[in-house]
Amino acid sequence: MLRVEHLKKHFGNQVVLDDINISVDRGEVLCVIGQSGSGKTVLFRHIIGLMFPDGGRILLDGQVISSPTTKTTDFDRVRKRFGILFQGAALFDSMDVGENLAFPLREHTDLTEREIERLIGESLEMVGLKEQFKAKMPSELSGGMRSRVGLARAIVMKPEIMLYDEPTSALDPIMTDKINKLILSMREKLKMTSIVITHDIGSAYEIADKIAMIREGKIIFNGTPGEIRQSRNPYVQEFIRGERKSHYALDNEEDYASSVDITKLKQRSARPRQAVATQQGKADGSTGNIAEKKFQMPPRPTTRN
Ligand SMILES: Nc1ncnc2c1ncn2[C@@H]1O[C@H](COP(=O)(O)OP(=O)(O)O)[C@@H](O)[C@H]1O
Ligand SMILES: [Mg+2]
Repeated sequence: MLRVEHLKKHFGNQVVLDDINISVDRGEVLCVIGQSGSGKTVLFRHIIGLMFPDGGRILLDGQVISSPTTKTTDFDRVRKRFGILFQGAALFDSMDVGENLAFPLREHTDLTEREIERLIGESLEMVGLKEQFKAKMPSELSGGMRSRVGLARAIVMKPEIMLYDEPTSALDPIMTDKINKLILSMREKLKMTSIVITHDIGSAYEIADKIAMIREGKIIFNGTPGEIRQSRNPYVQEFIRGERKSHYALDNEEDYASSVDITKLKQRSARPRQAVATQQGKADGSTGNIAEKKFQMPPRPTTRN
């Protein structure tokens, strides 16, 4: 569906992307991993059309989308197929949650206010938030809630591809787990294709169908989560061993275990994907809510609608 071919980019005499080749098929989750400064965000910005390559190209369903000469109207059409979650969610601070979600719909569609309201409700439910959240201002939300609202805003346009730049980097382990489950849930429910940029190998193991590892602008591994464990490349090994722990925000798992049942959380993470999908649609009617209440950190409103 999306293919990056021989992508090259330099800034001054620093080569940042050096012959990048990656691809993702419809309904797949591709994780691009790598250390800080390895070129992940620069790659991300090329994919969403904020930067143009010095060499190589990016194709969406066979159509080149990386040429600066692409007509703006053509590019707008392409961009509407993307849902983007920037690092830190990038919410509009002067708008409440409802207005944040309505923004892309008002900007890009002719939907009636009533339809917009319905879509907002649907998106919030999808990320496990109640309608009452619409009235909250971004400043009132925790980091995890902001990420979820950012995600709700990104999916409100029903994109075919979701692109995430470090969706869990600022989050604690419980929120990380929730965002990961959401990415999988959207894959199951909406057959959504995702490209997730992350330095968190734990998340990559949990959500990726394919992993590409980037180091100093080069792809040094491209394969499945199973294959990366078998990789003989010393840098790959160093990364997957060294970074493993950063999945947890707390250094000491004991501290963390005293507040939540970490064994259970880990078991849940280890469960195969099929089991994750069947957790949805619980008897309490919280269809879009894949986050188990037990692990909910902030108190949530109990009434619906
Ligand atoms: N607009 C820019 N101009 C010059 N250098 C840049 C620019 N954007 C990124 N870089 C450099 O490119 C390298 C890769 O950055 P980046 O893609 O942000 O890394 P990360 O993998 O942490 O996301 C870094 O050395 C960074 O300083
Ligand atoms: Mg980055």
